[in-house]
Order: sequence, then structure tokens, then C-alpha cells
Amino acid sequence: MKAAIIYSSVTGNTSTLAEIICENMSKYTIETDLIPVDEFHPEQLHNYDIVTVGTYSWDNGELPLEMEEVFEAFEDEEVKHITTGIFGTGDSFYPYYCGAVDIFRDMLYVHTNLAVTLKVELTPQEEDLHRCKKFCDRLASEFAVVS
Ligand SMILES: Cc1cc2nc3c(=O)[nH]c(=O)nc-3n(C[C@H](O)[C@H](O)[C@H](O)COP(=O)(O)O)c2cc1C
Repeated sequence: MKAAIIYSSVTGNTSTLAEIICENMSKYTIETDLIPVDEFHPEQLHNYDIVTVGTYSWDNGELPLEMEEVFEAFEDEEVKHITTGIFGTGDSFYPYYCGAVDIFRDMLYVHTNLAVTLKVELTPQEEDLHRCKKFCDRLASEFAVVS
């Protein structure tokens, strides 16, 4: 069982969230690679059973430019069998709060086995930790073995 977290972050909020999620994943027996978007290649998707994507939002709830390659990779590659999760940080000051998360969610729902979504206001706070745990619980439960 292998998982990847592909993320983009400018001011550090989404990378902090990605690290928390990565730490939670390690509590399961799921080997997880943390991949900054500038190290991502579309063919990597095929190495994983679970892929989570982390993004901030920009310019009226849009995808950051550097996340477009990731978005298109899910559209173009054969990824129907991959379980996915989408998380992101945003600022509710803006009208389209975490709009990039919604854009990814809708696409991943169509092209993959989307399991879970998480939105966090700016940098993760204490009260977000249980939400991060739930996010990973939901991903891992897709692969739970009942004995
Ligand atoms: C110019 C600008 C536009 C932004 N637009 C949005 C937006 O439309 N929706 C939103 O939820 N957040 C928006 N944000 C807030 C960022 O998404 C938020 O600060 C995020 O946590 C940054 O992530 P990072 O620290 O990982 O770079 C905007 C921030 C800036 C500076």
C-alpha cells in the first residue's frame, strides 16, 4: 500500500497541513511520499494506491498556476482505481473560500475514487487536528482489512 501527498504552498499554510496529514498517514501501515508540486511528474500517479492533493486558492477561488499540471494529469491518466482526497487552505475573507479545493473535488469525483475533502482556514489550528485525523481515517478505511 502506497500513498502520495502532492501539494503546493507559497506562504507555508498548505505545506504545514500536508505535513500534518503525512504524519497521520504514518500511523497506518501506509508508506506515504510527500511531493512538492515542482517535483511532480504525471506518470508518478501510477505508483500509488492513494493520492491526496493539497492546494491553496488564488485569484477568485482559482487553482494556482503550478497545480494545473497535476489537475490535467488526473484528467489524462488512467486513474479510476486510485483513491483520492483533496485538502487545502484558504481565507474566508475571499468570496470563493477554498475555491481550488472545490474545483479539484469535482474533477476527482469524476475521474477517481474520491474519498474525502478538507478545507482549513489559513494555517492549521489545534481544533483542525482532529479533522486531519478524520481525513486520514477516511482514506485508510477504503483499504481496511477486516479480520
Ligand atoms: C492575492 C490573493 C488571492 C487569494 N484568493 C483567495 C481566494 O479566492 N479564496 C481563498 O479561499 N483564499 C484566497 N487567498 C488566500 C490563500 O489561499 C491563503 O492565504 C492560503 O492559506 C495560502 O496558502 P499557502 O500558505 O500554502 O501559500 C488569496 C490570497 C492572496 C494573497
